[in-house]
Amino acid sequence: MAGRVDALYFFLLLISVFFSVLIAGAIVVFAIRFRRRAPDEMPRPIHGSLALELAWSIIPLIIVIFIFLWSADLFVAARRVPAGNMEIQVVGKRWMWKLQHLTGQREINELHVPVGIPVKLTLTSEDVIHSFFVPAFRLKQDAVPGRYATVWFQATTPGRYHLFCAEYCGTKHSGMIGQVVVMEPAAFQTWLAGGATGSPAAEGQKLFESLACNTCHRADSLGRGPRLEGLFGRPVKLANGETVVADADYIRESIVTPAAKVTAGYQPIMPTFQGLVSEEGLMQLIAYIQSLQAAAPPEAAPVPVTARETPAANLRQAETKR
Ligand code: CUA
Repeated sequence: MAGRVDALYFFLLLISVFFSVLIAGAIVVFAIRFRRRAPDEMPRPIHGSLALELAWSIIPLIIVIFIFLWSADLFVAARRVPAGNMEIQVVGKRWMWKLQHLTGQREINELHVPVGIPVKLTLTSEDVIHSFFVPAFRLKQDAVPGRYATVWFQATTPGRYHLFCAEYCGTKHSGMIGQVVVMEPAAFQTWLAGGATGSPAAEGQKLFESLACNTCHRADSLGRGPRLEGLFGRPVKLANGETVVADADYIRESIVTPAAKVTAGYQPIMPTFQGLVSEEGLMQLIAYIQSLQAAAPPEAAPVPVTARETPAANLRQAETKR
């Protein structure tokens, strides 16, 4: 796509340069040629020129319509993903790019792709708007929370290409960079094999941590979400008084639509992970939660509210130190 984008840009540049030179040149030429030669010189009045006005209306109209048709054609080509593509799921998050191949390989700030095959990117964001920008591919697409965007590219030359976030997204926006590694098909197959993933439960644990599930679902009772140790297969009392068994279907539903069945005693504050976790990722998460069964520590005593990290508690602590 780069050559086609560049051709359009070069044409726009050429048109701009042509008219800039034409107008600046005309100003200079007219200033000299039609300068006032005597202090009492009176110019001949001009009452307009239909031919001239038609010319400077119709010629630019033809030029901009031509630019529109060219751009629209290019835009459609850039959006229409060719068949036989390889799909990559891209999630922007402050401040990293998380990429997942449908074959299970997961990458952060790095994307390995084979040369010569259309790569379809499905982008979304976990927090704020990011923008996936690979200048070498003339590829730039916003990653917007709660919405999917699709773009594609087909790399033509093996190598490493810069990947940027092109939407200011906070403190470490400038560090939200990475690279796209384009490989020969054979080398890519080797990479795919080498990137063999661990057990589903181990992958699920990684997913659990990379999605920051552990900030709320913590083992120490300080979390804002229910504990997950020993949860799998047990009955769960819901906020609406019903009781369900925490099986795979329930856990999947709780990840994708957390508000559907809220555990009694907890607020429905969990964000939906719909689209942010692939079906495979969901299965890995379920496997991980299932694996917590054996490792479940003895029931921790509930921590009194006053001992939690409330602003007041922090203040008291600071005062005690002083
Ligand atoms: Cu993400 Cu800037």
